[in-house]
Amino acid sequence: MLASGSGTTLQALLDAAGDPAYGAKVVAVGSDKPAARALERARAAGVEAFAVALADCPDLVAWNAALADAVAAHAPDLVVCAGFMRILSPDFLARFPSRVVNTHPALLPSFPGAHAVADALAYGVRVSGVTVHLVDEGVDTGPVVAQAAVPLHADDDEAALQRRIQDVERPLYVEAVGRLAREGWTVQGRTVRFG
Ligand code: GAR
Repeated sequence: MLASGSGTTLQALLDAAGDPAYGAKVVAVGSDKPAARALERARAAGVEAFAVALADCPDLVAWNAALADAVAAHAPDLVVCAGFMRILSPDFLARFPSRVVNTHPALLPSFPGAHAVADALAYGVRVSGVTVHLVDEGVDTGPVVAQAAVPLHADDDEAALQRRIQDVERPLYVEAVGRLAREGWTVQGRTVRFG
């Protein structure tokens, strides 16, 4: 798994994977931020944690290559981004074809990018939500695995909306990642099917 921040999404997946019936094991957690709380959560769960900081690499090409090597060392069946806030390069993705999944706090294709919750609020939408998608070379443009809607409230600020989105996001992502791991998946065009 890859995470940059506080790691509450990661925690939900670590908790789910603690049950053998979930059918997926977290083999390692990586981050671009050596001090990320997500790495502490991984270690607390007995999962190996590593960081590949951009500051330690000469450029983004080298960083993507170093991150891909670190991930590949754990031979994951699926690379799960959980609040991972960097764009993975085509060279990285080619190492794990159709095997990188992300969760995004908006109903894509609306509000891609790093400020989805604030952007949805600023636009004045009445409904936003969560999109689980496979990662392709664009920014939040990959084929959709699962989505759920979250209605806005009149008095929402960014923190309140983010909280309600994440309350929906964690179980949705746990369910989607579990199904991908247990059932496998196929991709035809933009259609992802389990099994
Ligand atoms: C999640 O809501 C995730 O969808 C979002 O970051 C949050 C991470 O929260 N990811 C993106 O915005 C990716 N563009 P967490 O650190 O508490 O798990």
